Amino acid sequence: MDIGVCYFPEHWPRERWETDVEQMVSAGIEYVRMGEFAWSVLEPEPGRLEFEWLETAVELVADQGMKAVLCTPTATPPKWLVDRHPEIRQEEPDGTIREYGGRRHYCFSSETYREQTARIVRELAERFADNPHVVGWQTDNEFGCHDTIRCYCEDCAEAFRDWLRERYGDIESLNDAWGTTFWSQHLRSFEEVDPPRHTTASHHPARVLDYHRFSSDQTADYNRLQAEILRSYGDWFVTHNFMYNFSQLNAFDVGDDLDFASWDAYPTGFPQVMHSRSVDEDDLRVGNPDEIGLNHDLFRCAADGPFWIMEQQPGEINWPPTAAQPAAGAMRLWAHHAVAHGADVVTYFRWRRCLEGQEQYHAGLRRADGSEARGYHDARRAASEFADLEALVDGEPEGTVAVLLDYDSLWALEEQPGTDDFDYWEYVGTYYTALRARGVTVDLVPTETDLSGYSAVIAPALHVLSESVAASISDYVENGGALLVTMRSGEKTPGNKLTGTAPPGPLADLVGAAVTERESVGDSETLETRLEYHGESYEYRTWAEWLAVEDAIVAGEYTTGVGAGRAAITERVTGDGSVTYVGVWPNEELADALVTDLLARADATYTADRLPDRVRVAQRGSVTWVFNYRSEETTIDVGPDGELLAGAETVPGYDLAVLEGTAADVTVEPERERESESESEPESGGS
Ligand code: GAL
Repeated sequence: MDIGVCYFPEHWPRERWETDVEQMVSAGIEYVRMGEFAWSVLEPEPGRLEFEWLETAVELVADQGMKAVLCTPTATPPKWLVDRHPEIRQEEPDGTIREYGGRRHYCFSSETYREQTARIVRELAERFADNPHVVGWQTDNEFGCHDTIRCYCEDCAEAFRDWLRERYGDIESLNDAWGTTFWSQHLRSFEEVDPPRHTTASHHPARVLDYHRFSSDQTADYNRLQAEILRSYGDWFVTHNFMYNFSQLNAFDVGDDLDFASWDAYPTGFPQVMHSRSVDEDDLRVGNPDEIGLNHDLFRCAADGPFWIMEQQPGEINWPPTAAQPAAGAMRLWAHHAVAHGADVVTYFRWRRCLEGQEQYHAGLRRADGSEARGYHDARRAASEFADLEALVDGEPEGTVAVLLDYDSLWALEEQPGTDDFDYWEYVGTYYTALRARGVTVDLVPTETDLSGYSAVIAPALHVLSESVAASISDYVENGGALLVTMRSGEKTPGNKLTGTAPPGPLADLVGAAVTERESVGDSETLETRLEYHGESYEYRTWAEWLAVEDAIVAGEYTTGVGAGRAAITERVTGDGSVTYVGVWPNEELADALVTDLLARADATYTADRLPDRVRVAQRGSVTWVFNYRSEETTIDVGPDGELLAGAETVPGYDLAVLEGTAADVTVEPERERESESESEPESGGS
């Protein structure tokens, strides 16, 4: 559990570097990430390599007892390279070229760019191979940032055709898998397949899904190229810094080639740019704990083990619509949150506000004049607290419940969402939040994972479902697992056609029920959307399916609308396990009821009371953290065996407490929440 920082020595005069690294050490920083985006400084002219400055910076870092993490500079090919090889540039669906000037202006399929990549990565790896102070590498930077996973150039067209040949063997198999008789799309050869470029109406969903798979595979392949070169030179770690809720790249595939995954956490930016939901003051001050937590857990699982936060928000940031100052202590709160979910290192982005370039309005741990900014104090405090906790925190958090995260389903649903209100991440988040509100440690895993170790599994919108995945899920249940599978599952073949049988298709026998009709329901102000689940009335949103029940218990029934009286939720005990099918997008209360029933059936451990909104607990080893992402204070009871290690039982707003003990034993005083919420309403209304 350490703190790091992203440093760009090339942005500052050489005379300043000693001061910078000395100040880093005073903050308790252990890792310094460098070299990212530095290609034009590392190779100012084709073939003229100037690595000495980076060697000097590594040496200075090492002199202070810190370790260096270097980055391959491939996110920013320099001007001379683009001029020499203009074919490396990406092309948009309408043929527009993405010109030099920003970053990520290269195509993953370009053989030329792959050669240039291999060359510069090899040169760097060779130069630093014997340097004991370089402990690891970050490949590139944020694959896909600025919408760059999918390119539509001629190199991609060629590579896509090869990818299809490999997948389908012959063109008639492709025609069959895609269903190309629709709108006269029959293809005579692979040469006839193009990327889904700008067209009228929309593209065939099967072509789109395969293009998304292909584009993600190309990126994973490009990452592998770098990882293999780096590994061939040294015994250092290789990681990549992923992005939050990022849809275009299969993180599990890239994770296969990494020692561990990292991700870049900008909590006050996320709610503003990724969601249709409204943003409140807490979002702008600290972000949402479950949106952050979901990404922690995803990237802990993406490469199976501890992860890093490679870029942690240091203060206000330049890219969301509103750049509010984070709450006092937020930069410390986020660091603790990350380690509680399994991060080994939290690296702040960046050391000092940059005087030049596109990110002048982005805070650093130090201000533009070099003085200490708010984030610096938070980082220093987190570092010293981590040093105290280190000995007590052993191992990784272990998920007891798995949530299946499936990129094929995400991509297919993105293309044909059925309603404007469906968002895959938000939908998965509904169940994630319900689990976290009961203190459960969640693993987010791909469908091919061995599920036997999990006491319960949730499969939200497992839309594209192969027979083999359905079989392994069925085995899990027959062998004693507790499964909750939801609306929009088992509807599509891997080719993105409807299965032709009633959803959940290959899971219908297991579920003992199948979907006859479905509807999207807009917002609840337009249509009444209520159902009764085990005798209680609840609301649902967005989507509803009517179920024909063959061999299951009807646990939930619609009470409003044209579907009134029809089955919405079913339960079935089969083999040694059980399966629930939920045909709606549940509101918070219904999600909680469904999840607690699932946990009870699974005999899993969870908090007796639902934690208040924005208050979360997380356990790692024998240490449990309580996070308060609300402005109001909250009171906790640490349970019979809990002992506070840091903080007090009254946790101030936007603060945390740490205790020795288990998460499931912690209770949070819910009355205080209601009291203070009703007290604060008139105030905010009046201001
Ligand atoms: C990240 C990126 C950094 C920097 C940062 C600003 O997405 O990796 O290079 O741009 O955002 O918040």
